[in-house]
Amino acid sequence: MLIDRVLAAVDRRAALPLPAGTDVLRLADDEADDCAGLVVDRYGPVLRLEVRGVALPSETTALVTALVDATGADAVVARLRTAGGESALFRLHGEPPPLHVVHEAGLRYAVRAADEEAAGAGLFVDQREGRRLVRGAARGTAVLNLFAHAGAFGVAAAAGGAARVDHVDVSRRCAQWAALNLALNGVDPRAHRFLVEDALDVLERAARRGPAYGVVVLDPPTTATRKAKGGKARRFRVEDDLPALVEAALASLLPGGLLLASTNHRGLSVSDVREAVLGAAFERGVSLASVDELPLPLDVPSAQDPVLRPMRGVTARLAGSPPAATAAPSRA
Ligand SMILES: C[S@@+](CC[C@H](N)C(=O)[O-])C[C@H]1O[C@@H](n2cnc3c(N)ncnc32)[C@H](O)[C@@H]1O
Repeated sequence: MLIDRVLAAVDRRAALPLPAGTDVLRLADDEADDCAGLVVDRYGPVLRLEVRGVALPSETTALVTALVDATGADAVVARLRTAGGESALFRLHGEPPPLHVVHEAGLRYAVRAADEEAAGAGLFVDQREGRRLVRGAARGTAVLNLFAHAGAFGVAAAAGGAARVDHVDVSRRCAQWAALNLALNGVDPRAHRFLVEDALDVLERAARRGPAYGVVVLDPPTTATRKAKGGKARRFRVEDDLPALVEAALASLLPGGLLLASTNHRGLSVSDVREAVLGAAFERGVSLASVDELPLPLDVPSAQDPVLRPMRGVTARLAGSPPAATAAPSRA
């Protein structure tokens, strides 16, 4: 039964070594945990189910009761996503707060687990390793966080000692959310930037100005509408636009700098992202010291399957000495 398989997955998580000070994790992961179409994430006291299908499974009520018993969660919400791209949110247990604070590796993040509008809760479980790598690479340098959403990468960068983080997102609400997340960690948001702009425009400007960032995070959505100059809207599609984005990102990186490039688009594999990075480096005449697959955390076991893998990404290190303690660029 689905309930038994989900509870077995929850049990397996108890043995995993999570970073200290972490209460956000994946409890059940789709086909990798033998519960196809269902993902269960824990955000502190709130469980968030992602269900693919036309309706919630018939066992949902019993499943929620079993999950609450097993985890002691205060509230459970579910996001149902249909193949047609529609989505609906259900409050299944307790009173999910509109915003609450969770922890990862000792850092604090405000999440909106029951938000109808937000793309996710604000902290994507599958990017935990990416945040760890950015935290480790940010000391003393300027960081460009493109498609920043709630600024989770920015929090990690600031905690790692970034000289400044430039967050870029078209949504003003996301800019405010990212500033709140910095403040929650004792970081003064006024020392950082929140550009409510099209990331492609910012990146084009940054590429024209030349190398200025020690870390660039490029984690675009699969598709988005972007306003072209002159007011005409055009569709952004990651499979078409990733190579140009990567090229511009490489042009804005200092020698020794780190690029994190990732996508959730199932039509792209890790190899495709790697090829985009290698191709862009060739076009730009940039030497890369390394290109590594971006690891997924152990609580996301679908990482082992190239098709099911939710996040496909690489980190690329430019040749040269790491750009610690460089001056932050004066304009983004
Ligand atoms: C999936 S989220 C990115 C997740 C984020 N990197 C993280 O780790 O939390 C996608 C974000 O891109 C933003 N976005 C969509 N199109 C954009 C564009 N053309 N320029 C800048 N931001 C955009 C959305 O508002 C959304 O916050």
